[in-house]
Amino acid sequence: MIIHEDSAVRAPDNMSDEEASTLPIAALTAWYSLVDYGQIKPGETVLVQGTGGVSIFAVQLAAALGAKVIVTSSNDANLQAAMQLGAVSGVNYRTHPQWHEQVLKLTDGKGVDLLLDVAGGNGLNQSIAATKAAGKIAQIGFLTGQTTELGLMPLIFRQTTIRGIAVAPRSSFDRMNAFLNENQIRPVIDKVYPFEEARQAYEHLARGAFGKVVIKIA
Ligand SMILES: NC(=O)c1ccc[n+]([C@@H]2O[C@H](COP(=O)([O-])OP(=O)(O)OC[C@H]3O[C@@H](n4cnc5c(N)ncnc54)[C@H](OP(=O)(O)O)[C@@H]3O)[C@@H](O)[C@H]2O)c1
Repeated sequence: MIIHEDSAVRAPDNMSDEEASTLPIAALTAWYSLVDYGQIKPGETVLVQGTGGVSIFAVQLAAALGAKVIVTSSNDANLQAAMQLGAVSGVNYRTHPQWHEQVLKLTDGKGVDLLLDVAGGNGLNQSIAATKAAGKIAQIGFLTGQTTELGLMPLIFRQTTIRGIAVAPRSSFDRMNAFLNENQIRPVIDKVYPFEEARQAYEHLARGAFGKVVIKIA
């Protein structure tokens, strides 16, 4: 397509078009949450919900930034795979519906420095409980609901900052691509579908993909 040069960024070196196509929404949202908003430092703790597109980039980026990453998933095999990518611990939120209690156990009762919330809904109350006093939540998604009934007292007493995230500016994208190059981070693509199988690609996404699903048009 033809676009103004101000609307484009240089893709990281040596990435295929399929790989580069995964960056503008999923990777950039994770990057902005961790770096521009979260200002994550080595040794800090980050919780990432699930093993979808945004979250798997968040695991890779946060681990490369030196953070200790805890990941939640409905699937133990996905937790193991996330640990191969740099997460230090995993919690199955299906077998542990009170997953925030497991996160507190893993963080000496304190909670994480930064939590990337992709689930939304009333689970936001658990996210607040799993974040340390004066910690930060990046509100990215709404997989379980676009509205929430929020308990205000835990929010007030824990002094949590909740920031809505709406992808990121182009300047952030340029900085992310340099970081991906330096750290040799490649997108995790679960499967590439031809355009004729676009329906199956969406069905795969609905089932839950590990990382990204790509539809190749040509
Ligand atoms: N604000 C923004 O700028 C922005 C940018 C990108 C995406 N988003 C939003 O962020 C959300 C995630 O996007 P995505 O592209 O990463 O989606 P995705 O690839 O479809 O990820 C779905 C995964 O989320 C996990 N999940 C579902 N319900 C969960 C729950 N209750 N607790 C924890 N994990 C849960 C599951 O992981 P397991 O299979 O491991 O359980 C599922 O596979 C969506 O709501 C999307 O619209 C927002």
